Amino acid sequence: MTKNSIWITGASGRLGNVLKSVLKNNVDYRVIPTDEEVDVSSLEDVQAHADLYRPNIIINCAALSNEEYCETHKAQAYKVNAIGARNLAIVSRKLNAKIIQISTDDVFNGAGENVWNEFDQPSPISVYGKSKLAGEQFVRELNPKHLIIRSSWVYGKGKSDYFSFVEEKGKNGESFEAVVNEISSPTNSKTLAKFIVSMLNSNEYGIYHASCEGKCSRFEYAQAILSNLGYDPTLVKAVVDTEGKNNSALLDNLMMEIMENYTMPHWKDDLNDYIANLKGGKK
Ligand SMILES: NC(=O)c1ccc[n+]([C@@H]2O[C@H](COP(=O)([O-])OP(=O)(O)OC[C@H]3O[C@@H](n4cnc5c(N)ncnc54)[C@H](OP(=O)(O)O)[C@@H]3O)[C@@H](O)[C@H]2O)c1
Repeated sequence: MTKNSIWITGASGRLGNVLKSVLKNNVDYRVIPTDEEVDVSSLEDVQAHADLYRPNIIINCAALSNEEYCETHKAQAYKVNAIGARNLAIVSRKLNAKIIQISTDDVFNGAGENVWNEFDQPSPISVYGKSKLAGEQFVRELNPKHLIIRSSWVYGKGKSDYFSFVEEKGKNGESFEAVVNEISSPTNSKTLAKFIVSMLNSNEYGIYHASCEGKCSRFEYAQAILSNLGYDPTLVKAVVDTEGKNNSALLDNLMMEIMENYTMPHWKDDLNDYIANLKGGKK
C-alpha cells in the first residue's frame, strides 16, 4: 500500500518535533526527511522541495511564534507567518495535496470573558495574531483542501516556554508574578499532535479549534505547574494586568462538538499526565 507522505514544516519546533515522533511508528504515513528546514518564505525553495518529494499532506508548523519579537519585527513576522503559509498553500494546491495550517487563539481579541468558536470573526490585536490570521486567509483562498487548526498556550518538550519558565523558578525557589486576568487553556503539544494526526485521513475541511477543555488564568496555570512538579505553589504571586497587553483568548472547540469526532482532555488532566510522564522519564 502506498503511504501518504507528509511534509511537516517547522519540524524542529515545539509542535513539529512532537508531531514527527507521534507519526514515527504509524504505518500509514511517511514523514518526508528534512535535513535542514526549508525557508517557507521563499516560494522558489518551497516549490523545489515539493517537486522533489511530492507530499500528499503538508502540515505547516513553521512560524515566528514569539509575540514580543513579532511586535518589533513586523515585516519578518508577516514574511514567515503570512507569506510562508501562502507559499505552502500555492504548492499544495498544485499537487492536489491537503494543507493543515496550525494557528492560534491570538487571532481573537483576548479582552473580556469571551469564548470564541470557529464561526466567530477574528479580531487580532498583536502583530503575531494579525500575521497568523493573514496566513489563515491565504490558505483558505488558495487551497480548498485546507484545515486550519487553532490552539492555545501550547507547552511541551523542546523549546523554552511558559512551562519551562515556571519550572525553572520552582527549581530555584524564586518568586515571580503572574496575571489573573489573562485567561486561556493550556494544551500539551503531544495532545494537540494526536488530534492533528486523527484528522490526516479525514475529509473534514475548514477551521477547527483544538484547545484543552476548561480555562485558567496565567496565575492558576503557574500554580498548577508548581504544585504538580512538587515545588512551592506560593512562589507565584497574583497580579492584575492593567495595561491590557494580554492577547490570549479562550477557544471553544465547537466543531468537535458538532461533528462528534474528537474530545480534548481537561487542561488539568492533560498537565497531570504530562508531568507524570516527565517524572517517569517519558515526555
Ligand atoms: N506555542 C504556542 O503557545 C502556540 C499556541 C497556539 C498556536 N501555535 C502555533 O503552533 C505552530 C507551531 O508553534 P511552536 O510552538 O511549535 O513554535 P516554535 O517552537 O517556535 O517552532 C516554529 C518552527 O518554525 C521554524 N521556522 C521559523 N521561521 C521559519 C522559516 N522562515 N521557514 C521554515 N521554518 C521556520 C522554526 O525554526 P527555527 O527554530 O530554526 O527558527 C521552528 O522550527 C505555529 O503555527 C504557532 O503559531 C503555538
